[in-house]
Amino acid sequence: MITTLEAVETDTDYSFETLALHAGTTADPVTGAMLTPIYQTTTYRQAAVGKDKGFKYSRSGNPTVSALERRLAAIEGAEFATCYSTGLAATTALFLALLKSGDRVVSSQAVYGGTVRLLRQTLAPFGVQAEFVDTSNADAFAKALQKPTRLVFIETPANPTLKLTDVELASRLAKKAGALLVVDNTLLTPALQLPFDLGADIVLHSTTKFIEGHNATVGGALITRDASLHDQFLFTRNTIGTIQSPFAAWLTLQGVKTLPLRMARHCENAERIARFLESHPRGAGFPSWGPPDFLSWVPP
Ligand SMILES: Cc1ncc(COP(=O)(O)O)c(C=O)c1O
Repeated sequence: MITTLEAVETDTDYSFETLALHAGTTADPVTGAMLTPIYQTTTYRQAAVGKDKGFKYSRSGNPTVSALERRLAAIEGAEFATCYSTGLAATTALFLALLKSGDRVVSSQAVYGGTVRLLRQTLAPFGVQAEFVDTSNADAFAKALQKPTRLVFIETPANPTLKLTDVELASRLAKKAGALLVVDNTLLTPALQLPFDLGADIVLHSTTKFIEGHNATVGGALITRDASLHDQFLFTRNTIGTIQSPFAAWLTLQGVKTLPLRMARHCENAERIARFLESHPRGAGFPSWGPPDFLSWVPP
């Protein structure tokens, strides 16, 4: 049985659409059921003390959640993923796993408000320093990285301003500064952007949005190609107790199957709206009310 600790076999021969449908799951070996069951269990029987089948306790790992993790890793072109109860639980695990008091994070200024609140209000009292910079401005970005930095956190396009950061540039700057690059890929998803191919070390998702796609769950994921980072995420998730529930993971497994189709349709719709606004007499430029100041916006 494949467990969360094992790397996903990424077979580049399969298309994105096929991976979204099938990666990470097989027919149930006992019943032949095509869908991975919802393993609604707390503990797992051990054949003898310490002899388990890869799972001991559902805070540490659960087969339904593992199936989703394998699929998310495969569609991002990575080997490892951990899934969380929400997107912000994933962000929390990321920061707790990799930061200690005195460490500095350079983050996009245009970033989800909950990420700002987490850094400024929850982690700052523990000595984590965060600087929010306009990462779409190469000079400002490079200047911010002159001071010692542990993590570079970018969200591109940003929610909801759609401000863009060049991921390849971010990767070059982060490497030069000796920092890890995290990309919040929630908005484009791997259907439209593959951050690992552009130099990211870690990809973060709120699966709550396009990945699950049906407004039925909240969830998050941390994806990486690095086994040692993955081990740190597994350890932290277990210590803080933020694994996703098997039911939410199961719903997300079903949702992700249609991700390629839905994203293609979103693009068509967006283009039609853009063309309509382009030709509308009041459509050009930003509306009179925007763009707002999202650093002071408080999310739900
Ligand atoms: C880009 C982005 N990242 C992270 C989050 C946090 O995710 P969640 O709401 O699942 O905790 C959100 C939520 O809106 C988001 O838009």
